[in-house]
Amino acid sequence: MHETERVLVVGEPEEPDSSSLTSYSRAGTAFGCSPAIRFRRHDALAPPWKSCPATSHSPTVSSAVRDITHLFFTAGVAMGFAREQLIVATEYQGVLNVLAAARQAGFRGRFLYMTAIGVITPSLSAALLNLFKGSTLRWRRRVEDDIRASGVDYTIIRAGVLLNRPSGKRAIEVSQRAHALALRHRIARADVAETFVQALNYPNTARTTFEVIRGKGPRREPWDLVFSRLKPDS
Ligand SMILES: NC(=O)c1ccc[n+]([C@@H]2O[C@H](COP(=O)([O-])OP(=O)(O)OC[C@H]3O[C@@H](n4cnc5c(N)ncnc54)[C@H](OP(=O)(O)O)[C@@H]3O)[C@@H](O)[C@H]2O)c1
Repeated sequence: MHETERVLVVGEPEEPDSSSLTSYSRAGTAFGCSPAIRFRRHDALAPPWKSCPATSHSPTVSSAVRDITHLFFTAGVAMGFAREQLIVATEYQGVLNVLAAARQAGFRGRFLYMTAIGVITPSLSAALLNLFKGSTLRWRRRVEDDIRASGVDYTIIRAGVLLNRPSGKRAIEVSQRAHALALRHRIARADVAETFVQALNYPNTARTTFEVIRGKGPRREPWDLVFSRLKPDS
């Protein structure tokens, strides 16, 4: 990612909690990139199930995606009970809306999608989460297929359970294993933000789906090595 590139982040809190450090803009700035543009619920899909029909014609979505270089989609329904209607509107249709608007605006960059481990491997935790939160993992798995079929250049990043810790403390494990949703598969939010920013620097992360969790011990591997084992999606 270069200083002149404009990255739209769909779903970044306006004022990231300083303890959480979940800031893609901050990660970008720390790694020498230009600040990202934020795009929040009230600017766009708000509330998607009422005012944003299943089309990309919302003027706010269209204007937000104009002239951007890359797009990070990190929005999701907050932790806790949620009806399936809200999950579908935000985590499925919301992604499709933004994708469609970007394509309509002639987007030629990378679409990086933040999702969660556990979408592939069944587990008790995943079943309970789906029950409590409107089948979130099922819809997230489904939207992955839509992203892969959309024709845009993409990277799908499935993050482990998020921790509010600063970045750079622990090794980062990037792999194409399908981890079960489990507390032992955790990662600092800020390390996920850094993974997004770094993925743009490595062309071999394009058209890949991978999982990111924290590894054992401190950081040792440079990013080129971290990403070197990835295979493109077939
Ligand atoms: N928590 C975990 O352990 C975990 C693990 C892996 C992946 N994930 C996923 O990773 C992403 C980030 O996780 P998180 O825990 O940091 O989530 P979070 O704190 O709940 O943040 C989600 C963001 O999405 C925004 N959002 C919600 N609905 C939106 C809409 N319709 N349009 C635009 N923005 C919308 C929220 O905006 P408002 O502030 O306006 O509500 C918020 O800024 C989420 O998609 C989450 O599902 C979470």
